[in-house]
Parts: sequence; structure tokens; C-alpha cells
Amino acid sequence: MKYGRIVGWGKCAPHKVLTNFDLEKMVDTSDEWIVTRTGIRERHIAGEGETTASLSVTAARQALERAGLQPADLDLILVATSSPDYLLPPVSSIIQDRLGAKCGAFMVTAGCTGFVYALATAQQFIASGAYRHVLVVGAEVISPAVDWTDRNTCVLFGDGAGAVVLKASEEPTGVLSFVLGSDGSGAKHLWMPAGGVARPPTHETVDRREHTIQMNGREVFKFATRVLASAAVEAVEKAGLTMDEIDLLIPHQANARIIELAARQLGLPMEKVFVNIDRYGNTSAASIPIALVEAIEQGYVKENSTVVMVGFGAGLTWAAAVVKMGVFTQPRYALWRTIPSRARTRARVAVGALQMRAGALLLPLYARVTKR
Ligand code: COA
Repeated sequence: MKYGRIVGWGKCAPHKVLTNFDLEKMVDTSDEWIVTRTGIRERHIAGEGETTASLSVTAARQALERAGLQPADLDLILVATSSPDYLLPPVSSIIQDRLGAKCGAFMVTAGCTGFVYALATAQQFIASGAYRHVLVVGAEVISPAVDWTDRNTCVLFGDGAGAVVLKASEEPTGVLSFVLGSDGSGAKHLWMPAGGVARPPTHETVDRREHTIQMNGREVFKFATRVLASAAVEAVEKAGLTMDEIDLLIPHQANARIIELAARQLGLPMEKVFVNIDRYGNTSAASIPIALVEAIEQGYVKENSTVVMVGFGAGLTWAAAVVKMGVFTQPRYALWRTIPSRARTRARVAVGALQMRAGALLLPLYARVTKR
């Protein structure tokens, strides 16, 4: 059982939608500028009571339901985020508790690239035979870290969560290959200067807005166009495939121009590239799982599709993974599914044994009847 097949998926976005026209009233910008430079039209922003944990739990419950699994079936929870509810405890434990799962849980932090890192990590636990069911969440409530007076950054980001459940399988599905990259020399092109131990919070750091995202947009743009296509090519080669065999590219949704450039570099027509940035903006570690869920819901990702997920972000980091979807089993027998999977397996074995016994008893009788 060395492959982690994606058997469940779910997503959640906050109720509140902030449009470009709303932003026009907040900073010196325009819908036209934002759409032409980024492709974004609106984004979801967390309201009262909506946190990284709450969005994650909603997305995770959907993914579990789709997988036909109970929280008790989970062996591990991984949460990719840069915006946990608290610095301590890790938000992964809050999510584990609210789901009612009884397993280990930890956070993976690699900026907007976090979900691909977490997916590759989850695959290792399954490939080693250690675990059978792993929940991987990518979630962010990044809006409190945005400087809503800075037009260079505030138009870009949004909040949301996406989740998948991986299940151990013999068939070559799930993460077939991955590439993980990091170049910390570019760290200050996208960072939050204060709040960590290097610069703890003070009145001064708050006054100077050092707890908000600071970005050198042009440098990040150049970096993204350097790594996105090459990481995707490397992952596809590692999987022993060619670009022609890829059904869909699911890139990190940071900027439509970056995505279009990467598609051109890869020689992929835009029909083979999933884009939903217009409705979500950049949701950081949540962007790829939300896009994956929408791509499945809209029929762009089908049974047995081969997709490439590729991301980049703070760190600076980048990552790509080739993922093969398996057969989409339908969630049936809702009541039956409420029983934990180990108990269901035992029940199935018992029923099978009974059927064999009954067969052995009835066969001679049937033979006698048909002889007459
Ligand atoms: N509305 C109107 N004008 C804006 C603006 C806004 N929201 N934001 C910036 N501008 C202005 C700039 O101030 C600049 O004006 P100036 O020439 O008078 O100084 C002008 O637009 C051009 O700025 P520039 O930075 O060259 O724009 P750009 O075409 O590079 O687009 C980004 C800016 C941020 C959209 C683009 O650089 C980008 O997407 N970078 C990558 C960011 C990213 O992906 N971050 C997340 C990584 S996970």
C-alpha cells in the first residue's frame, strides 16, 4: 500500500466578499488596474468567528464525507498554513480536536507553497506503511496580516481553506513525484518583519505596521516566472511522464499573468490550466487545494486524470507535484459509513465467511434439486 490516493476533498471560503469596487473606496486603485495586472475581481475575507481552524474544519468535514470516512479513521492531520489561529498551540491540534479525530497533527509552514509540501509529506507516511488515512489541509486567514492602506499588497490576498484525504492504495495514484525548493536569500522580498522572536511585538512595531505583509512585487514576480515552469517540468520528468500526458496544471493562484507566462513556457494551452484567481485572489497555502476542489467539481479533473500542482511563495519557496487521481468512489450508505473503517472491514470479513458457509451448505441441496 504505497500510494496515497486522494479519496476526499472539500473547501470553505468566508461569507464576506470584498470586490475590487470595494477596494476602490479604501485605497487609490481601480478595478481596471487590479484586473489587468492580477486577474483578481474579488476575494473572500474572514468575518467574526471565522478563523483558520473554523474554515479548515468545514473543508475537512466535506473531504471526510466525500471519502466516506469518520474523523476516528484518520491516522494523521497535516495543516499547511502561515496564519495559524495562535502561535501556540499549533492550529493543527485545534482542528484535530474540533473534528473529534484521535491522531497526531502538525503544521507545515512553507508560505504559499505549503500545501504541496504537506501533500508530499503525507505521501511519505503512507509510502512507508506507517499510516493509511491522512488529512491534508491548506488554510489561511491572511487578511489580518494585510496592510489595508497599502495598495501594493491589499488588492492581492484573500482567505479560505481546502482539504484532501489520502488513503493508502496499491494502485499508482496520488503523489507520483514531487520537487521541493527553497531559497532563503530572497526572504525579504515577501515577509512580515515583526511578531517573531527576532523582532517581538512592541508599540513601535505596531505603529510601523511591521506586523503586516511587506512585498517587493517585481522581485516576487521575476522569481515566480523563474521557478514555476521549471519545477513543473522537473516533477513531470521525475514521474516518468511528458507534458502531453498531463491533463491539467493547477498552479498557485497569485497572479493571472504569472500563470499565463508559466503556461506559455510549458507549451500548455490555457484550457489545460486551472484558474480561479478572479473569485478568490491569492489565498496562499489554501489556493491550490481550493483550485483542485473546484477543478473536480467543474469536471476539469476527472477519474484517473493526471494533474500537476505547482506553487511558489514566501521563503522564498517553490514546489511541484504530479498527482494521479484514481477512481472516484461514490459516498454511499451514509449510516454504514458512520462506523469506523476498521470495524467495517471486520464486519465485511464476517459477512463473507457467513456467505461461504451458507454456500457450502446450500450447494449440495441445489445440486440435488436440479438433478431431479
Ligand atoms: N492600484 C493602482 N496602482 C498600483 C497598485 C494598485 N493596487 N499597486 C501598485 N500600483 C502602482 C505602483 O505604485 C506603480 O506606480 P509607480 O510606477 O508610479 O511607482 C505602478 O502601479 C506599477 O507598479 P509595478 O509594481 O510595476 O506593477 P506590476 O505590473 O509589477 O504589478 C504586482 C504589481 C504586485 C501585481 C506584481 O508585481 C505581482 O503580482 N507580483 C507578484 C506578487 C505575488 O505573487 N505575491 C505573492 C506571492 S505568493
